[in-house]
Amino acid sequence: MSETKRVALVGCGGMGRQHLEVLRGLDGFEAIGVCDVLEENLQRAAGEYGVAACYTDFDEMYSALKPDLVTVATQTRGHCAPSVAALNREISVLCEKPIAIDLAEADEMVEAAAASGAKLAINQQNHLNSGIVRGRQMVEDGVIGHLVLVRGRNKCGRKSGNEFTEMGTHVTDMMLCFGGVPEWCSGTVYEGGRPVELGDIMEAKEMSPRDRDSGLVAGSVAMGHYGFANGVLGEIHFLGYQSRDNHNYGVDVLGSEGQLAIRAAGDLQQGLWHLPRPMEGRPSDYGDWQAVSLGEDVKESPIASMYRSLAGAAEDGTDPPGSGVEGRWAFEMVLGLYQSHREGGRRIDLPMCERRHPLEVWRADH
Ligand SMILES: NC(=O)c1ccc[n+]([C@@H]2O[C@H](COP(=O)([O-])OP(=O)(O)OC[C@H]3O[C@@H](n4cnc5c(N)ncnc54)[C@H](O)[C@@H]3O)[C@@H](O)[C@H]2O)c1
Repeated sequence: MSETKRVALVGCGGMGRQHLEVLRGLDGFEAIGVCDVLEENLQRAAGEYGVAACYTDFDEMYSALKPDLVTVATQTRGHCAPSVAALNREISVLCEKPIAIDLAEADEMVEAAAASGAKLAINQQNHLNSGIVRGRQMVEDGVIGHLVLVRGRNKCGRKSGNEFTEMGTHVTDMMLCFGGVPEWCSGTVYEGGRPVELGDIMEAKEMSPRDRDSGLVAGSVAMGHYGFANGVLGEIHFLGYQSRDNHNYGVDVLGSEGQLAIRAAGDLQQGLWHLPRPMEGRPSDYGDWQAVSLGEDVKESPIASMYRSLAGAAEDGTDPPGSGVEGRWAFEMVLGLYQSHREGGRRIDLPMCERRHPLEVWRADH
């Protein structure tokens, strides 16, 4: 990369400060400005990370600083406006997940990037997690034979409906790292053991007042299926884990000759296991899970890799990993399950024609 990339940050809460921490340790990048509507958060971030230029209006910050990159770390409802404003000025954007509050906003963001030529990436950083990157390579090398199924499992510690929208795109993004473009989905969402009904729809903040605002949610458990364009099938489990045990969080990748288990929480050095056993057959006929050493693969944190790859893509005009288009697919895989549920678990073609939130449409129709 040529010169130091000058980065401006919008949203100085918990995740915004984490971005500043990453940028502080990242050669070739410098945080040059911060913006927040809350003076307290703005001053705290600026003070902790020694950033002198402070703004309460992102447009003013873009005009004054003309940054090379913008990071958007507001909550989901605040992703679209600062991202589109930056992209319209031909500034590339690393925006937090999930991409937006509904598909109409996600479309606006993807279209703004396409129109300006600037790059949009969504910080589903597991895209560049060393376990995922190495696992993809192993699949490509034929280590697990013919790829059949990718199974996604949720993190925990949140009510599952909220978890589904707030964290779900991390899981669907990891799934599409192996499946590619999703073509259809079907699924059912449950509350207290029964299928979700109209009256179960609520704002994420109603479900979990102390959690983030990720828009409309419903239900405590969800299960779904996907078909990907490359013929691979997907299965997702959101089982409403209430404990803080995140050991399930990740994907299982099942092939004709073996399986991979990739876990995204915890130690970056150990997030990948290989089971040299076909999907079918008696478990006792084959060996057990083997940890795959990732020592050489772990060079930096996945968020640092997101910055590097976005800056590289902006320079050479390619699509960054975790692009806006992929981020929108990951989000559509979540919203598609709500639509399928409403239609009795029917198979829904992706992309969906209706770009409003499926739960908003369900409410409006009544
Ligand atoms: N990728 C990850 O692993 C990861 C982890 C945690 C959070 N996140 C995501 O990061 C985002 C932020 O989460 P958080 O926990 O930091 O939220 P937060 O509420 O702590 O921080 C958001 C900040 O944005 C500010 N803000 C709101 N509107 C603004 C505007 N118009 N202009 C400038 N600032 C504005 C708020 O005042 C607040 O300080 C969410 O989308 C969340 O899902 C991602």
